[in-house]
Amino acid sequence: MQTITVNLAENSYDIVIAPGSLEQLSSRMKELNLGKKVLVVSNPEIFDYYGKATIQSLETAGFEVCTHLIPAGETHKTLQSIEKIYDTALENYLERSSTLIALGGGVIGDMTGFAAATWLRGVNFVQVPTSLLAIVDASVGGKTGVNHPKGKNLIGAFYQPKLVAINPLVLKTLPEREFRAGMAEVIKYGVIWDADLFAKLEQAERLDSLDYLGEELLQTIITRSCQAKADVVSKDEKEVGLRAILNYGHTIGHAIESLTEYELFIHGEAIAIGMVAAGKIAVSLGIWTKEEAKRQDDVIIKTKLPTKIPADLDTEAILEILKGDKKVKASKVRFILPTKIGTVTITDKVTPEIITEAIKAVISEH
Ligand code: GLY
Repeated sequence: MQTITVNLAENSYDIVIAPGSLEQLSSRMKELNLGKKVLVVSNPEIFDYYGKATIQSLETAGFEVCTHLIPAGETHKTLQSIEKIYDTALENYLERSSTLIALGGGVIGDMTGFAAATWLRGVNFVQVPTSLLAIVDASVGGKTGVNHPKGKNLIGAFYQPKLVAINPLVLKTLPEREFRAGMAEVIKYGVIWDADLFAKLEQAERLDSLDYLGEELLQTIITRSCQAKADVVSKDEKEVGLRAILNYGHTIGHAIESLTEYELFIHGEAIAIGMVAAGKIAVSLGIWTKEEAKRQDDVIIKTKLPTKIPADLDTEAILEILKGDKKVKASKVRFILPTKIGTVTITDKVTPEIITEAIKAVISEH
């Protein structure tokens, strides 16, 4: 078992990484003195796999458990779904001392966290992530929220969990495409923060499926990614400065997701293309070497993540979307750009010409 602490004064919490962490969940929750009533929020598929074991463990430890299921998918990440969680919380007389547990991927985690942040002005929140993306990124750091019809994650709150319980074995039931998409965030940590993690990814023979990873590398990937996220969040919880580096690859990535209406690429895939494009911008600016950018791209290719967008996507439309991005500050598009593997810088000094050139470089040929 490995424990990583996210250091945030009175909001500090542990990330517990262990094959038996579902069972350990209840004992940890008892240690934390969380109240008796627990509402487990999940989606039907995930609940089929892990609901019974989770509930059994909680009930055996003396918790009173109720559940709320939300259909899978980003389209359900709405305020209407949150209202339904509130209804279940009300019907089951949840109190301030009660706990909402998110059992699922990033969508479930973000929504459950937001419901926990707002119900009764804040009840306890515990994350049990079941996708690689949620394990290495979404479950740590307290970003919670839902989508507005006009944009992703526009409604939300910073609200830290009391505990993150990670069981790497849950990845066995994760579809391979989702696994690879989660790997994009792992590669991101290697490029922005942890050169040793990047070296481990480079050394691996294959990264495109959990089957090729082996227990040791999987453990390294999860632990070092969570450590990177914990380090960054501990230094800048509310994204006043440093935390923005976690958005590496996300500036162009989000624009691609939005332009393709979230249908062509899943999040990590768009981020992979965004990292390739950001690498090209850094090389154009002369702040990153071509050789290192190629090393990044090679790891992305080894993971069988996409590096190109379809030829019919409009470069101008991508630029337009960039202007409306959350990462725009004082009307300038901010980019996170590598300067060497393991280190990035934040800049708003990228000209539209350089951005256009980078976008053109990631467009497939006809
Ligand atoms: N996923 C980026 C962040 O948590 O800040």
